[in-house]
Order: sequence, then structure tokens, then C-alpha cells
Amino acid sequence: MIQTLVLTRPDDFHVHLRDGVGLNALVPITAAQFERALVMPNLKPPVTTVAMAAAYRDRILAARAPGQSFSPLMTLYLTDRTPVDEVARVADADFVVGFKYYPAGATTNSDSGVTALANIYKVLEAMQKHGVVLCIHGEVTHAEVDVFDREARFVDDQLAQIVRDFPALKVVVEHITTTEAAQFVSAAGPNVAATITPQHLLYNRNAIFTGGIRPHFYCLPILKRESHRQSLMDVATSGSAKFFLGTDSAPHAKGTKENACGCAGCFTAHAAMELYAGAFDAVGALDKLDDFASRFGAAFYGLPRNTGTVTLKRESWTPPSEFAFGTDSVVALTVGQTLDWKLETAQ
Ligand code: NCD
Ligand code: ZN
Repeated sequence: MIQTLVLTRPDDFHVHLRDGVGLNALVPITAAQFERALVMPNLKPPVTTVAMAAAYRDRILAARAPGQSFSPLMTLYLTDRTPVDEVARVADADFVVGFKYYPAGATTNSDSGVTALANIYKVLEAMQKHGVVLCIHGEVTHAEVDVFDREARFVDDQLAQIVRDFPALKVVVEHITTTEAAQFVSAAGPNVAATITPQHLLYNRNAIFTGGIRPHFYCLPILKRESHRQSLMDVATSGSAKFFLGTDSAPHAKGTKENACGCAGCFTAHAAMELYAGAFDAVGALDKLDDFASRFGAAFYGLPRNTGTVTLKRESWTPPSEFAFGTDSVVALTVGQTLDWKLETAQ
């Protein structure tokens, strides 16, 4: 039985670091696990310009703990009114690597999102031309579509169209949760990839309802039935370079999760690599973790491989249940759990 795993220092290609007082607590947590992270732009107001992303990046860099090595990679928030010119500015700014497409109303802070695909066609054309990546929250938002079907419907209604009309556009389908999305990405060209979160590899939708309602397991896209989880495990451990690590760690203050109308988002940043190691270990695929966590994402984004290493040890431990989050606290997804892997050192 493998007891120690040495990996190339990994990257998180989808994280929410928030802003303001929360940032100072969150950045050191992600930087303890990852060398680089792709930072989502769904702040209030959203990060819509390279100038805003540059200022946000400076705040993130200032929030690192002393001696921490960590480089944030930025995304811009696509709106109905994103000017085509912004694409060239992104292409020139090496710290901004893509645009995030949120269908309006799909998730937390997505009210400025895109209301119709046609509104961003000129921008997508420019992105294709400049090699700028489109990161997609792949869910339709129509109230009549069952919440568990929203990703599969997006694949049929929008993703197929985007990939058909912009065949050379680099696309990352973020936090995929279904067999349909896994199959679509597998069958598409090498310019189409996907991130997968730890919660979607480890849990099915029963986790939300075990013995009562469990708000810390509620994220969007929502956890799906077991057959989908198995499809995600299959592609994550397949060795395909199209599937790579993106935690979607999305902290919310405790009181806004444990609430009559609780926010969507799971906080996993404090134990991200441990959670992924547990998932890969469960199917005997620890040998595939290095590629998934530390190589495929960087290769897709055209970034150099990290040079440092991290060590994971087989060790039973219980993470803290809560972490400081500004003047509040955030409850970890792992609350009440014991983990089998522990991240030891970053070099
Ligand atoms: C994210 C958040 O809280 O910002 N929530 C979530 O459930 N994943 C937004 C997102 O990525 O959809
Ligand atoms: Zn997210």
C-alpha cells in the first residue's frame, strides 16, 4: 500500500478567493496547497476589465503569508456588454488567461452574466482569434428545467453550438458534474477541456440529504446521482489531458449557508489535495494524480510546469471544522470527517 506520494507542486484551475477582509484568510490557505490558482471574477461588482483584474491580483499578492510562493492567474467576467477590445487587452496581459461565462442567474453573483449567447458572439470570435480561453459555468437557467438537468441541457443547447461555431476556441467546461458533460468533452477536440471538483468526485446527491439537509454539500452545479459521479471518476483517472484539477472552493460565511435560503458553494481549499488523493486512492489510481493535479491544467493553458514538489502522506487526521473568514467564519466541507491523506511539505 502506497504510504507517501510526491507530486509536482499542483495548481488549482478554479477557485473563489473573494475580496476585502475575507481575502487575507483565504489566500494563505490556497497558497499552502497550490503554486498557482485561476481566480474567479464573480466579485461584487464583477471583475470585468484587465485594469480591475490587475488591481485584484495586487490585493491577492499582498494577502500571501510571509514567504509563500503563489501566483494568481486571473479571469474576466463576461457580460452582455464586454467590449471586443477587451479581448486584445487580455491577450496582452500575461496574468489574465481567460474570460468566465456565467449564464445570467446561474449561480452566486451571476446577475451581471450573459443573457443570450448571441450577445457575446463577437467577443468569442475575438477570443478564438487571440487564443484566449473561455471558462464556462455550464448550466441553463430556465426555471422550468429541473435543477439536476441544467448541465446536461446546457451541453445540448449551448456548448455544442459554441464548439461548432468556434471550432478553434479554447474552452474549459468548469466543474463538470454529469456523464453528458464528460462524454462531450472527451469527444471534442484537444481545445476543449474540463475541471473537476473534489466534491463531485467524492459524493453523490445523497450527501446533501444524509439524516437531514446538509447545506455545506450544496454547490452549483449541484451534486448528481451516483452514475454521474462514477463517470467523473472514470475521466479524472483516465489519463486524458482534457480533465484537470479545479476545486471550485467557494467560501460563504457560516450564517449564509446555514440559512433558510442558503448560498451555493463548498469550501475545500484547506484540504483540497487530501480530498483528491482520497478520491484517486479509492479506485487505485494514485499514479494518475500528478498528471491531473500538476500537469494537464498547465499544459492546456500553455504554462510551464511547476518545479517544486509536495508530499502527501497516508495519515488519519481531522481538519478544523471552521476557518476565519473576515469577521465571520466559513464551515469546511469536511466538517465531521476524518481524512486518510495529509499534505506535508511544499518545497
Ligand atoms: C460559486 C460561488 O459561491 O462563487 N458557487 C458554487 O456553488 N460553485 C459560484 C460558482 O462557481 O458557481
Ligand atoms: Zn466556481
